[in-house]
Amino acid sequence: MAKTLFDKHVDFGVRQANPFNGGPPPRLLGQSHITPTDLFFVRSHGDVPEVDADSYRLEVNGRVSRHLSLSLDEIKNNFERVAVNATLQCAGNRREELMAVQPIPHELPWGVDAISHAAWAGVRLRDVLAVAGVESEAALNLHVEFGGLDEVERLNNRFRYGGSIPLAKGLSPEVILAYEMNGEPLAPAHGFPLRTIVPGFIGARSVKWLERITVQDEPSHNYFQRKAYRLFASNARADTVNWDNGMMLGEMNVTSVICSHTEDERVGAGMIAVQGYALAGGGREIARVDVSSDGGQTWMHAELFNDTNPWAWTLWKANFELEPGRYQLVVRAMDTSANTQPQDISQVWNFKGYMNNAWHRVNVEAR
Ligand code: MTE
Repeated sequence: MAKTLFDKHVDFGVRQANPFNGGPPPRLLGQSHITPTDLFFVRSHGDVPEVDADSYRLEVNGRVSRHLSLSLDEIKNNFERVAVNATLQCAGNRREELMAVQPIPHELPWGVDAISHAAWAGVRLRDVLAVAGVESEAALNLHVEFGGLDEVERLNNRFRYGGSIPLAKGLSPEVILAYEMNGEPLAPAHGFPLRTIVPGFIGARSVKWLERITVQDEPSHNYFQRKAYRLFASNARADTVNWDNGMMLGEMNVTSVICSHTEDERVGAGMIAVQGYALAGGGREIARVDVSSDGGQTWMHAELFNDTNPWAWTLWKANFELEPGRYQLVVRAMDTSANTQPQDISQVWNFKGYMNNAWHRVNVEAR
């Protein structure tokens, strides 16, 4: 199969060439549990940094009893290799639908494609922190900041990408420093040579091109923690907002999406198979996916395909017998804590366009 920029699939949807951002066509997205690397979405705020694996070092500092400076070989050889299959989703997934409610300037109009699932391998963050002398009892009120090597420009400043998670999450076994994706070394666009994978959290915390881990008292002061990736009420506006009032995003919310059909598609009357993905955040699992063909008046349960991994998406499928006419397909999911999705998208609108998990609706015509 021919490849395009950054070795992506010919049908990969490039949303921005510079910095490179894009995602797979929805139809291909929901077809396999593991997203092939050439279809895996890319979300980068700056250019991909060139990193020489031989001279690369990871610094571990802050509130640790031993500072570490580790080469890639030391990371690979001195710590146990672990595999974690996890779904990454950008907090901006489905922003396009929010933009149709009210404009959201200066942000990428993601469809349902800012999400993918991979088999990651690397070392546990907690094993590295243990060598630095970080004890689990210390975790209660601390945070762990991840610094990337890529440079970004915002508000007339140039700085490196970064973000943080509570140390308590960082010490959980699923949080890894990954050097492999789908059985290969990380591709440059996905963070070569090392990135964090924080399953259950928004993708922004899975920092690529990782150069530094700092244990500290407060969440990161990086722009992408303190301003971007905060959730505001629907009446807040960029020019008047008090940034401190926004909720710093961490765990993802429950969501589900139709991948098999696109808006205003014409389908043959008769049996149609509606398919898609669902995801529960924070280690919860998808308990149920409801699908409707009449705008949400009546529902049927979709068949679920999950590998019993709480960090993985659930793929789903439902069949409908459609007479000729117009239909609104709708999907909503419920997780194992009985959280479900809001019906009304205007209620989840926010000026940065994050965390849209309203019922997903697709209008089709059967002929
Ligand atoms: N890490 C760095 N260093 N720079 C970035 O721009 N983008 C983040 C995160 N890690 C980013 C980063 C965001 S917003 C997301 S959604 C994920 O990477 C996307 O990971 P992917 O490009 O491998 O899909």
